[in-house]
Amino acid sequence: MRRAALRLVVLMAVPLAHAADIEAGRARAVTVCAACHGATGISVAESIPNLAAQRAGYLAAQLRALKDGTRKNAMMNAIAAQLSAADIDNLAAYFAAQPGAQASDKSGLLPNMKATRVPFPQEFRNTFTRYHTMNFPATKQVRQFYANKAALQAAKAGKPLPDGAMVVVEVHTARLDLDDKPIVGADGFFVPEHLLAYSTMGRAAGWGADIPDMLRNENWNYAVFTPEGKPRTINQAECLACHKPLDKASFVFTLKELAGAK
Ligand code: HEC
Ligand code: HEC
Repeated sequence: MRRAALRLVVLMAVPLAHAADIEAGRARAVTVCAACHGATGISVAESIPNLAAQRAGYLAAQLRALKDGTRKNAMMNAIAAQLSAADIDNLAAYFAAQPGAQASDKSGLLPNMKATRVPFPQEFRNTFTRYHTMNFPATKQVRQFYANKAALQAAKAGKPLPDGAMVVVEVHTARLDLDDKPIVGADGFFVPEHLLAYSTMGRAAGWGADIPDMLRNENWNYAVFTPEGKPRTINQAECLACHKPLDKASFVFTLKELAGAK
């Protein structure tokens, strides 16, 4: 009797352990993957692939390659790293089961990924500290980095950046010489010409509450503003995904430079 029951358990457990759970895949897909690939695998942007109706085996293989880093994409590497083997099978089965898309189909951005709470910091030129500059030769841009007092003080004290911290990056085109090469100033950096945008991150209590864990950067929100200070529509999921692996550095790539600011 006992042996028969045991055999029954084994027989049932084996197929169950390997069968993909489409419902579990859906639950994760609609909160996390939907931000970029759409809830049914029809993506939100040209730069993001549709997943609907692709073969489950292909999707799972790509997720494993993105998880172990043999396929490189900063955002997807950060997301796939958090998926278990079962998550991968479930998600692959879910997206494979969705109807295929027409070329013109596009999903909308998720409201919680569009609605950033970061306000434009009106007075930042007077109140923030400029702590870093970077040349970008490929795009012929130069970026200037500014942080507020809460961010600066915490970084200098070696503490995590607290609620109230804010970082602003000014993105400028570089002035070009007659050969269209960026002109380098006395400080070694490209000479800025036109301001293109302000790229910002800020945090306050509650700002991370509606962001799923796989994307959440504690309480940070991200925003991009025009030179006139108007918010641009962005997909915050992209910012969150790329900055996510920096959880030990307050999600800030230039934390060392911030701590060393004069
Ligand atoms: C922040 C945006 C973003 C989120 C969120 C996101 N992805 Fe992606 N995903 C991308 C981008 C961009 C690519 C294309 C990567 C490349 O160019 O190699 C991609 C590629 C993929 C691919 C490879 C597709 C192919 O045709 O080769 C798979 C599979 C995938 N994502 C699955 C997922 C799953 C599952 C989730 C949710 C757990 C997810 N992604 C969440 C942005 C995202
Ligand atoms: C592909 C990865 C990636 C994506 C996507 C991304 N960032 Fe970043 N971010 C970086 C890197 C790398 C740096 C370091 C400086 C640099 O290389 O520009 C950075 C720096 C920053 C900084 C300065 C503070 C710091 O972390 O050093 C801000 C502010 C910022 N990003 C905002 C944004 C916003 C807003 C978005 C979304 C619209 C975004 N980022 C999307 C990779 C990314």
